[in-house]
Amino acid sequence: MKHQPPPGDGTLEQAEQLRPWIEGETGMDFSGSRLTRLQDGLRKVSLLEALKLDPKALESAPFLERLTAQLTVGESFFFRNASHFAALRDHVGPDIFAHNQHRREVRLWSAGCAGGEEPYSLAILMDQLLGPDSGWNVSVLATDLNPAFLDKARRGVYRPWSFRLTDIQQDTRYFERQGNDYILNPRVRDCVRFAYLNLVKDVYPSASTGTLGLDLILFRNVSIYLKPAVTQVILQRMCGALRPGGWLLLGETEVNLAPSEGFVVRRMEQATLYQKISEGAPHFDALPALPAPVLAEVRYQQSPGAFATDLPNWVPLPETRAAGSGPSPVHAGAAGKPGPPDLWGQIEEPAARQHFAKAEVLIDGIASEQQRGELRLRYAKLLLEMGESARARGMVEQSLREAPMTVEAQLLHASFCEESGDFAEAEKAWRRALYLDRSCAIAHFHLALLQRNKDLRLAQRSLRIVFQLCDKQDPHALVEHADGVCYGRLREMAIAVFEAEQESESA
Ligand SMILES: C[S@@+](CC[C@H](N)C(=O)[O-])C[C@H]1O[C@@H](n2cnc3c(N)ncnc32)[C@H](O)[C@@H]1O
Repeated sequence: MKHQPPPGDGTLEQAEQLRPWIEGETGMDFSGSRLTRLQDGLRKVSLLEALKLDPKALESAPFLERLTAQLTVGESFFFRNASHFAALRDHVGPDIFAHNQHRREVRLWSAGCAGGEEPYSLAILMDQLLGPDSGWNVSVLATDLNPAFLDKARRGVYRPWSFRLTDIQQDTRYFERQGNDYILNPRVRDCVRFAYLNLVKDVYPSASTGTLGLDLILFRNVSIYLKPAVTQVILQRMCGALRPGGWLLLGETEVNLAPSEGFVVRRMEQATLYQKISEGAPHFDALPALPAPVLAEVRYQQSPGAFATDLPNWVPLPETRAAGSGPSPVHAGAAGKPGPPDLWGQIEEPAARQHFAKAEVLIDGIASEQQRGELRLRYAKLLLEMGESARARGMVEQSLREAPMTVEAQLLHASFCEESGDFAEAEKAWRRALYLDRSCAIAHFHLALLQRNKDLRLAQRSLRIVFQLCDKQDPHALVEHADGVCYGRLREMAIAVFEAEQESESA
């Protein structure tokens, strides 16, 4: 029988009071009978007494972390839902390989990855399909908001229960048995990059989180815990994170929360998937129009309760900016029509048709080195949105040779290096960005993330600089070059990292 908290222990009142705040922080739904789960979580965190005395304790990152650890369900196993993996094997994988043949690269995202079973299943599937020495570069981004799940996932060690509906653990190409544990082969393990990302509060699509130009997103068994309006916004953002023609797979019971726009439905014998509409592709199987998600409604549901923090509940999506001025200006050339296409329009048009040589000849022809570098950077961002990340990386490197004093190019270069595991070069690039702009808060933050693996004191120093920079700003103001992260959120993330480091130092 399900455990019920004893009546009158104060948790019901606490849960009711906290509900708007925690729903805003996680997107989870604690309406109606679901409030009991929040009550249970609060009791387990056993901070109630402290909270009664000091409501401000709620604003602390450790409290949120402990509470979300209780509220999130990390249930997962390898090759969960065999029919999904059959559809990926028979249809989606081959489609991605055919599309990416020229660049031999696959980029996947498991959003809400729990203990890693799902992203590792994807990595194994790709290995089975491509073969071990294919020369293809497979990268799987795996994100979650529960740091304990991420730690477990990084270890890549599993018990038999994680294989309850598969016998993949018997395959010695992928697992080595040690007693009761199955250890994942490092070759597969290293294809997967785990990162903290709260789907409700963090920024995507964005080059800095590796969430641009993806071939496939798995978003399964996460939205069942979220508010439907929140899920719709997440799906919109995921659409932006996919390349044209990229794929989205939802959980079996979640297809009723299908994305409202931007996708065509692909019904296969084994599963239904959503494919991002490619520009100019026939919309023969278009989804029926649903009302567009209303952010204001989400905000209303998350409106501050007694303990609410002073932070925005939703970080705005990156805006389309004017040429050369912002993080994501790739469509700016289309604005301002009709009239003869400007140079950017002339570059964008062949690039969209994958006639890259034609586009690049136009860039190469620009006389001023500085302007050439700047336009090349803009072109690199267009390539990234299209999923051409290897080409984009080459363009950023070239742009840095032409216009080396561009902070944004240094930041992009650093993100590329991190994604490919070249942390030494990434660190140099973050530092070069800081050399150009000492107040670049996002570069200090990323530098701290790298430094904490080597030298905790240096990492803490960088984080203190982040705090100082954030404290000078309105928490709602957008951080420069950070694709829509606001100073309040950056500060929160920095605090979480800082406190986690202090905890591990004192442990
Ligand atoms: C039931 S597991 C699903 C795991 C895997 N996708 C699967 O289908 O087997 C749900 C995961 O979503 C994560 N999650 C819930 N809300 C989230 C949010 N707002 N941002 C990121 N992850 C979230 C939880 O921490 C948990 O690990």
